[in-house]
Amino acid sequence: MAEFSLPANSKIKNNGKTYKAASGASNVRSFKVYRYDPDSGQNPRYDRYEVDLDECGPMVLDALLKIKNEMDPTLTFRRSCREGICGSCSMNMDGTNGLACTTAIEDCSSKEVQITPLPHMDVIKDLVPDFTHFYAQYASIKPWLQTVTTTPSGSERLQSPEDRSKLDGLYECILCACCSTSCPSYWWNSDKFLGPAILLQAYRWLADSRDEMTGERLDELEDPFRLYRCHTIMNCANVCPKGLNPARAIAEIKKMVVERAV
Ligand code: SF4
Ligand code: F3S
Ligand code: FES
Repeated sequence: MAEFSLPANSKIKNNGKTYKAASGASNVRSFKVYRYDPDSGQNPRYDRYEVDLDECGPMVLDALLKIKNEMDPTLTFRRSCREGICGSCSMNMDGTNGLACTTAIEDCSSKEVQITPLPHMDVIKDLVPDFTHFYAQYASIKPWLQTVTTTPSGSERLQSPEDRSKLDGLYECILCACCSTSCPSYWWNSDKFLGPAILLQAYRWLADSRDEMTGERLDELEDPFRLYRCHTIMNCANVCPKGLNPARAIAEIKKMVVERAV
């Protein structure tokens, strides 16, 4: 299922500039990129860039860097690690959320590759969404080890290999928000619903054998909106670039809520 939906503050017009590839280039791919500059007072637009793939790396991020370095230095986007670790280059490419640095250009099937910011987030500029609310929701789940007992003297809080393995599939989350911004429930209720990324992170601490605030964490989550606005739509699991399954983590939280009630 394609997850494309315009960013929250879009009144887009299809009237931007076209930047041509150098004459003589024979392997050209066109990229249609969302542009928005709040300082201009203009509505968002799409600009088109023709990129010579023979002079470009294989990933969408390579194309964006080539555009920025050689065609249009005003194009703005986030990136850092260029290998799927920092989560900063998340965006919507060809209708699907993903990381620009791990998405191959050849895997984008449209003749013209459309690139927009993550859906349903306010946009700061071009491909840069505003993560303020997302990070505030992350802080709300207290994403750190919470204990009430004192640390065993002279030693760390130990965990068996079996208990440690319960964090697999959770700790790898890079908080890119591809999942949350592909979730229709999050689109409509992100003011109250925590969304799949933050709920997966919440479960990461519920599943940690060393954490001693399980009851309090569940109290915070047991709410018609914060947790129960997940309706098992599954876009989150389909889109996660790290292969994680936030839907399963959400189901585990719901199970914990039920189990403590019986
Ligand atoms: Fe990104 Fe996957 Fe974490 Fe969601 S669960 S924030 S898609 S890494
Ligand atoms: Fe949304 Fe994933 Fe639930 S897409 S509704 S959080 S299963
Ligand atoms: Fe770090 Fe893409 S640049 S995940």
